Amino acid sequence: MITYEEIFKNNKKWAEEKIGGNPAFFDSLAANQNPDYLYIGCSDSRVTAEEVMGAAPGEIFVHRNIANVVATIDLNAISVISYAVQYLDVKHIIVCGHYGCGGVKAAMQQSDMGILNPWLRNIRDVYRLHVEELNAIKNLEERYDRLVELNVQEQCINVSKLAVVQKAYLKKQYPSVHGWVFDMRNGMLKDLKLDFKRILSEIQKIYDLTDE
Ligand code: CO
Repeated sequence: MITYEEIFKNNKKWAEEKIGGNPAFFDSLAANQNPDYLYIGCSDSRVTAEEVMGAAPGEIFVHRNIANVVATIDLNAISVISYAVQYLDVKHIIVCGHYGCGGVKAAMQQSDMGILNPWLRNIRDVYRLHVEELNAIKNLEERYDRLVELNVQEQCINVSKLAVVQKAYLKKQYPSVHGWVFDMRNGMLKDLKLDFKRILSEIQKIYDLTDE
């Protein structure tokens, strides 16, 4: 485990290494950010955004919360997405879940989780939407894995319901929305290969907010 003092020692070493490799590193970092990706992931300490992607500072705009949820009245998540689309002009929005997600597991328990109840409700709603498929999976570990994937899928749909995303896509043909799952058992990112164009045209039968 890293100690409190080590953090600052490591930080100094990191900053010196960056300057060693490129004396102007922090000048350009401080000047602006121009990321092509918005990453929405879980707060879980084992699932780091940039590290597993091999991305550098400035390349990924990040939002993390318990179980990578995009809830319609979450001003935090919606502000992040709106800013990323309108001002940072991101090309891709990624919702990344992970197998072994404690939030998803908690939502599978039928018990009162106190203050977490309204948050976990978002995931319990995903379970209800897909109850037939999930209950047909008899192995509980496999059912848990599948709920992790379906949660990612539903949160991608929630991203696609936003007017800001729909309007940007109509005008620019981006951003596209991708669903990923990180498998900490082998370190691999899995692209669920969701068909974003199809998701968008399906949901726009009800949630078309483009004003076109
Ligand atoms: Co998690």
